[in-house]
Amino acid sequence: MKKNILIIPGDGIGQEVTAWGKEVLVKIAEQFGHEFVFEDAIMGHTAIEATGNPLPDETLEKAKASDAILFGAIGHAKYDNDPSAKVRPEQGLLKIRKELGLYANLRPILLFDELLDASSLKPEILRGTDILFFRELTGDVYFGEKLRNQDNTFASDLMNYHRYEVERITRKAYEAAQTRGKRLCSVDKANVLETSRLWREVVQEIAAEYPDVETEHMFIDNAAMQLVKNPKKFDVVLTANLFGDILTDEASQIAGSMGMLASASIGDGTGFFEPIHGSAHDIAGQDKANPLASILSAALMLDIAFGLQDEAKAVTDAVDKTLKAGWRTSDIADKTTPADHILGTAAMGAKVLAFLK
Ligand code: NAD
Ligand code: IPM
Ligand code: MN
Repeated sequence: MKKNILIIPGDGIGQEVTAWGKEVLVKIAEQFGHEFVFEDAIMGHTAIEATGNPLPDETLEKAKASDAILFGAIGHAKYDNDPSAKVRPEQGLLKIRKELGLYANLRPILLFDELLDASSLKPEILRGTDILFFRELTGDVYFGEKLRNQDNTFASDLMNYHRYEVERITRKAYEAAQTRGKRLCSVDKANVLETSRLWREVVQEIAAEYPDVETEHMFIDNAAMQLVKNPKKFDVVLTANLFGDILTDEASQIAGSMGMLASASIGDGTGFFEPIHGSAHDIAGQDKANPLASILSAALMLDIAFGLQDEAKAVTDAVDKTLKAGWRTSDIADKTTPADHILGTAAMGAKVLAFLK
């Protein structure tokens, strides 16, 4: 199979981890006889420094022309510490999601048994958890009108949803639920927000088309609590952009670390595969970042964008073998991990590659 893959490492640890997601794709192509042609593009702070634009036209054109995109992360402390900055790395990510029509962000909470002790939660609470989040990605308060009055005494972000935006992601989530545990939990704040009341109405209507799937509606505050109280109760979780952003960072603790969670952003065109984590200023440039979220994002690309299930499984198996052999980055090490088994980004990436042989 011939595919054109665009690599957008972005900023900070995005650059360090994406290198390993790409290496894994190179190796898979070799082993399974595929031709993957790679191109690179810039985004975020790196792109602002080079061009003044967090999403240069050239990057967007390359993205539209590719078969799939592996993205790292964007962000820089400079902007986090300067809320008045008008041009920001995050604008690049939001724009590419919108331009590519990536309305569904699939965030699987893949729990490797070997990491049960790496989590801040008790192993008996976690064991057997398998959740697939469907986070809406191109609507909500992220994309509504933003206002700030002249004397800086008032600001506003408009939260809105169109019926069609809720319908399309809801159908995708139900289709996925049919192939899994046949349970769907829609998370909203319908007791307060009008957008959530529309959301709930639409989900209730569409639920009738999927009688084989058990539907539950839950308020976001309760869901945040239930997720750590009894994560096994969830199968597919469907939610809006902002709620999904927050709940999945929380859920990363089920998998042991932010460095473990991969995601697939899909919709109308080219699929975009991205770890859920950011550019992690606190560890950037120190060879400390866990590359597994990027490697597992590459696995999602093979599976979802190319339909290469055996190849995707080869990648997740190699990650599993690496963990079973006791290799850890510091974020997923626990008190029983011997010091000589705690690896940096590059050494961890190399272990996974070796297990792909
Ligand atoms: P973050 O996800 O970058 O980091 C949160 C914490 O998790 C940090 O302690 C970090 O060290 C740790 N962490 C994250 N990824 C890790 C990995 N692979 N291995 C080990 N530890 C890891 O979130 P933040 O600190 O809130 O944000 C930093 C910057 O990243 C901000 O500028 C933010 O806007 C940006 N950001 C970008 C994305 C993205 O590009 N998709 C996502 C989130 C945040
Ligand atoms: C993510 C990030 C982004 C989001 C930011 C950087 C715009 O947190 O990918 O989860 O909120 O979607
Ligand atoms: Mn996030």
